[in-house]
Amino acid sequence: MQSSQNIVMSGIRPTGYLHLGNYFGALRNYVRMQDEHPCFFMVADLHSLTTHPDTKTLRESVTRVLAENIACGLDPEKVALYCQSHVPETAELYLYFNMLAYKGELEKTTTFKDKARLQPDNINAGLLTYPVLQTADILLHRANLVPVGKDQEQHLEMARNFAQRFNHRYGDIFPEPQAFNYGQELVKVPSLDGVGKMSKSENQNATLYLADDDDSIRKKLMKAKTDAGPTQPAQPKPDYIENLFSLMRLVSAPDVLAQFEAAYEGCTIRYGDMKKQLGEDMVRFIAPIRSRAAEIQSDETYLKKVMQLGAEKARTSAVQTLSAVRAAMGLNYY
Ligand code: TRP
Repeated sequence: MQSSQNIVMSGIRPTGYLHLGNYFGALRNYVRMQDEHPCFFMVADLHSLTTHPDTKTLRESVTRVLAENIACGLDPEKVALYCQSHVPETAELYLYFNMLAYKGELEKTTTFKDKARLQPDNINAGLLTYPVLQTADILLHRANLVPVGKDQEQHLEMARNFAQRFNHRYGDIFPEPQAFNYGQELVKVPSLDGVGKMSKSENQNATLYLADDDDSIRKKLMKAKTDAGPTQPAQPKPDYIENLFSLMRLVSAPDVLAQFEAAYEGCTIRYGDMKKQLGEDMVRFIAPIRSRAAEIQSDETYLKKVMQLGAEKARTSAVQTLSAVRAAMGLNYY
């Protein structure tokens, strides 16, 4: 069923701290989408059990992710911001989709193979059916737009397959969800060591977290890799230097950026000065988000209200979908 209305849904696993890459790659887009579409944003606490069975720190991680999302500009009044475990209908839909998912295709999933390699002693069924649960998250709201990065493309393709299989067997209930982002190219925030992107878990010194204090931000930037500088005018920039300029483009004023571009062109650039400037601009960018997030996270009453409101909105939508699903499957005996 191609509903006339676009519905946005995405999830964030509460493992690790949110970083600048999450901000520019995802959160900033969520904030824009909330004014344009009905949106469901979910903290995927159940998904995290597939890799993090120890739940001692779960409450803290969940509340931090919620607080960081709100601090970045998500408005719990406008969107449904909720925890996956607060919407039990998810589990029911997951069960139905599990009957349409084949062992072979699940075993072939890249993320499954990667995680199985990382935790050979805990290759649980939840890990295998992770993409089925993700499909349930999305289709629970019959969402067709899913703002996610490239790493989730395979999961979305599986979601489309499961949706098609369901529709074919039981009747047209579900849209086929697509990745959705602004612009042709996703903003990639490079890692400070010049290798790859910023990451939740890898190389914490090369990643700027939204929870980093001012000194850590400055220190991480001062340690970023540089060299003796260009020796000829208009020399191409090595990757690790281009990365510093990319970061500057994200957080510094245009005239500041232009000044360092010109200094590079003219071979007079001093990377120490550039990193110091970038450090100050980064602190100015991150500090307000960090303190706002800390304030929100410490307000238990407020967060409880946010979670209740989010769960209510998500369940209203979920209950409608599940009743259509049961009817389509012929499970409505009375
Ligand atoms: N698998 C996603 C990730 O690792 C998180 C996620 C869970 C998700 N449920 C989702 C993303 C639904 C989009 C839609 O980042």
